[in-house]
Amino acid sequence: MNDDKKMQESSESINMTDPATTGATSESGTPKMTARNVNVFYGDKQAINDVSIDVNMDSVTAFIGPSGCGKSTFLRCMNRMNDTIPIARITGDIRLEGDDIYAPQMDVVQLRARVGMVFQKPNPFPKSIYDNIAYGPRIHGLATGKEELDHIVESSLQRAGLWSEVKDRLQDSGTALSGGQQQRLCIARAIAVDPEVILMDEPCSALDPIATAKIEELIHELRGQYAIVIVTHNMQQAARVSQKTAFFHLGTLVEYGETTDIFTNPREEKTRDYITGRYG
Ligand SMILES: Nc1ncnc2c1ncn2[C@@H]1O[C@H](COP(=O)(O)OP(=O)(O)OP(=O)(O)O)[C@@H](O)[C@H]1O
Ligand SMILES: [Mg+2]
Repeated sequence: MNDDKKMQESSESINMTDPATTGATSESGTPKMTARNVNVFYGDKQAINDVSIDVNMDSVTAFIGPSGCGKSTFLRCMNRMNDTIPIARITGDIRLEGDDIYAPQMDVVQLRARVGMVFQKPNPFPKSIYDNIAYGPRIHGLATGKEELDHIVESSLQRAGLWSEVKDRLQDSGTALSGGQQQRLCIARAIAVDPEVILMDEPCSALDPIATAKIEELIHELRGQYAIVIVTHNMQQAARVSQKTAFFHLGTLVEYGETTDIFTNPREEKTRDYITGRYG
């Protein structure tokens, strides 16, 4: 048996994905999203192995774990971004407010408005700052006229902490902003369609410490209005911004619980090894 296989098996033996044992269910109200027994395959290769987790409205959830453990794969399943990868196949059940997001009648465009996503590399459209924000509300028919659209653009930029920096240059290209500003523009764009959940995949990894601090501050402010899931390799960041932490390893959810518990008193040795920097 090779080492990979051994690690896989030992990780499976501690794969406690039953929400009752992992603490995946919050005491505080109904979860916004639930995943049950999710498996993801790329061709023959399994990338996610029987993961069950709840995501709550009142907390920021951090996904942590070594590179290649499946964090992005699982995140993408939560708004069906994996549909864009032809060899990806998913089994199991993921629900948003009880609705099966993989049901045939689910409108994927609508779903991605309800569950927005912010990527590692800021990806503004090659359009004006104004149009970057206005695009979603326009296609979803959220504004009845110019005035209402202006209001959505302004309030989204306000909530993303970018308004004062761009209010005099709304017609400039979004791509002309700094990296940190572009990332806040992408967050404003996600917010503009009034989502319920925001998924962020390493949103700060391309940013300097000051831009990172602004995004973290923003996550604090947005918490409560949206359910937020953030993938991060930065343990300090996970500890700072999240209330819940999920530790993934080799495609399995090893441990999920209160961030303070995960970082101070993890149940699993693998979690302890990872957060203390023994591997990853
Ligand atoms: N489009 C794809 N096609 C085939 N395999 C993929 C694809 N995307 C990811 N994988 C594989 O799935 C596994 C999980 O990858 P994923 O990108 O989800 O990991 P990750 O935890 O996000 O890693 P990182 O921290 O490096 O971003 C890896 O083995 C990876 O090679
Ligand atoms: Mg990733």
